[in-house]
Order: sequence, then C-alpha cells, then structure tokens
Amino acid sequence: MLQRPRRNRKSEAIRGLTIETKLHVNHLVQPLFLVDGQKKKNAIKSLTNIHQLSIDNALKEIEACMQVGVNSFILFPAVEDALKNKTATYSYSAKNFYLKAIKEIKKKFPESCLISDVAMDPYSSDGHDGYVENGKIINDKTLPILAKMSLAQAEAGIDILGPSDMMDGRVAYIREQLDLKGFTDTSIMSYTAKYASAFYGPFRDALDSAPKSGDKKTYQMNPGNKREALIEAELDYTEGADFMMVKPATLYLDIIQDLKQNFPLPIAAYHVSGEYAMLQAAAKNGWLDYEKCLAETLLSIHRAGADVIISYGAKDYATLHKKGKA
Ligand code: PBG
Repeated sequence: MLQRPRRNRKSEAIRGLTIETKLHVNHLVQPLFLVDGQKKKNAIKSLTNIHQLSIDNALKEIEACMQVGVNSFILFPAVEDALKNKTATYSYSAKNFYLKAIKEIKKKFPESCLISDVAMDPYSSDGHDGYVENGKIINDKTLPILAKMSLAQAEAGIDILGPSDMMDGRVAYIREQLDLKGFTDTSIMSYTAKYASAFYGPFRDALDSAPKSGDKKTYQMNPGNKREALIEAELDYTEGADFMMVKPATLYLDIIQDLKQNFPLPIAAYHVSGEYAMLQAAAKNGWLDYEKCLAETLLSIHRAGADVIISYGAKDYATLHKKGKA
C-alpha cells in the first residue's frame, strides 16, 4: 500500500499538524433572553441552563461569557402579553425594556458586540413575524414596522441588526432607512436562509411567541429546498447585508457550504434551540456526552463554512476551551 492515511493520525502531534479546521472561541455568539424587571432568572423548561434574565442578571451573564472569551451576544425579548398588539408598537416604544437593555449593556461593555432580533413575533398578538390581515401575512405592510424597530435598536446602540422575519425586500428597506438617518455604521446580519423548522419549539416556549394561528410556511423556507437559498442569498447580497445566516445549522450544513462557496460575505449559522435541546436531553439520560457532542457539533458547523456560530452552548464551549478540553 503506497497510501496509508493512518500514518498521519499516529500521534497527537501529527494529528495537530494535519488538522484542517479548528474552531476559535471568537467565532461564537451566545443568545440571551431578556425580560423586564429586576433579579429575574426564570428557567426555560425545554432549554437546560438557559434562562430569561432581567438586565441586572444579563449583565452578570455577559461578564461571565466575556471572561471565557465570548464577546458577542444575540438578544431576544420576552414580552408580556398585555404589551403585544397587531402592529408590534412596543418594539419601538421609548418604554421598551429591550431597547433600554441594549443601551445599558453597551454602556457597561462597550467592547461587546450586540446583535438584535428584527421581527414582529415577540411583540405581535398574532405571534407572527409579519403583519397579519385576514389570516395572511402582508409583506409590504410589515416593512415599515421592521424599519421602525430597526431604527429604535440602532438608536439604542446595537452593533448588528438581525432581521429574522423573512419578508421580501426587508434588507434594502432597512438599509435605506438606516442610512437616511445617519446610521451608516449599523450592520445587518440577515437571516438569509431561514427554514420553516420544527426545531424552533423551545425558543417559542422561551418567548411564548408561537403563532396564534397557522404556521410560518408562507415566509420561512421549505426544508426540501436548496437552490431557493441562492435566490435569497443573491437578494440579501445585492440589498446590502453584511452577513448571511443559515438556520437551523446542523441539518442544513449543505446550505451553509453552498452560500460559503457562492458569496464572499461572512456566513453565520444558528444552532437553534431544538438542536441544543436534543443534546441536553440525551445527555440528561446518560446517552450522550454533552461536552464532546457540543464541541463536535460546533466544529462541524464551522467546517461546513460558517464563520459566525450562534449557539446556546457558546459559553459552555468557551469554558471547555479554556480548560483545554476543546
Ligand atoms: C423569530 C425567531 C425564531 C428564532 C429566532 N428568531 C423563531 C421562529 O421563527 O419562530 C428561533 C431560534 C431558536 O430556535 O433558537 N423571529
């Protein structure tokens, strides 16, 4: 045998020389669920170790993440039902605790990178990402609402806006409004290929944001479609997105690879709530080793082509890395 690939695996040192992909902690983003009030740390049943945090506890959590090298955070608001309505007006209200939280975090940790969520669902009495009329999601009536939300978040000091709504034309619409108001430095991480996935369940538990009727299939993508992701990517690229996201991550590694090969923008992948919950549930039963499976999962997402990886396990991975275990 002239070729014996095992020769390049014979020691730790040689395996080190030949490693093709290594995940650095600086690629990771930790999601945080924010809630109004003080001293709140509400457990989320389907998301082990993840909590709804009031700002005081969120600041502590951010500090703990930054100590292990995670400097980027994606923030989601858990809004009480009484503040939700058809047009999501609370999303840009001066009283919105989420906007205040952005300001406070940036004040205390100016070196952190904060990513927002731009979509109506946390604020909508219909539980949809867009404006609902007679049971339909109306694309063009949603855009001005998303733009108001985006401007309010930009004013609060967000580094990167994260439109997760999948409405057509929203990146261009938001970019134009931002630039008109002078927010030329506010970035956009577009949820480019966001699939209508059953793996968002625990997230909707965390925010109590499930649709009140129907599903999200008229705006989120069909899991069977791959070439369609290139249409979405082309649009986001020409509309001025700074990052393109694929979501979920592990079941959609082919889409991550496709976008990486076809577009020069940084690619983000969202290892979503259901993907994290599966690891935790199996670990709880003693069926999988959480730490090893998490490290392998995040590495695989990176290997497929994701530069930015959003995961509920980001802090855990960084902690393992610090201990030399990942
Ligand atoms: C909604 C939004 C969702 C997630 C991020 N933004 C859920 C949905 O589309 O219903 C899911 C994230 C996760 O499951 O971790 N705009």
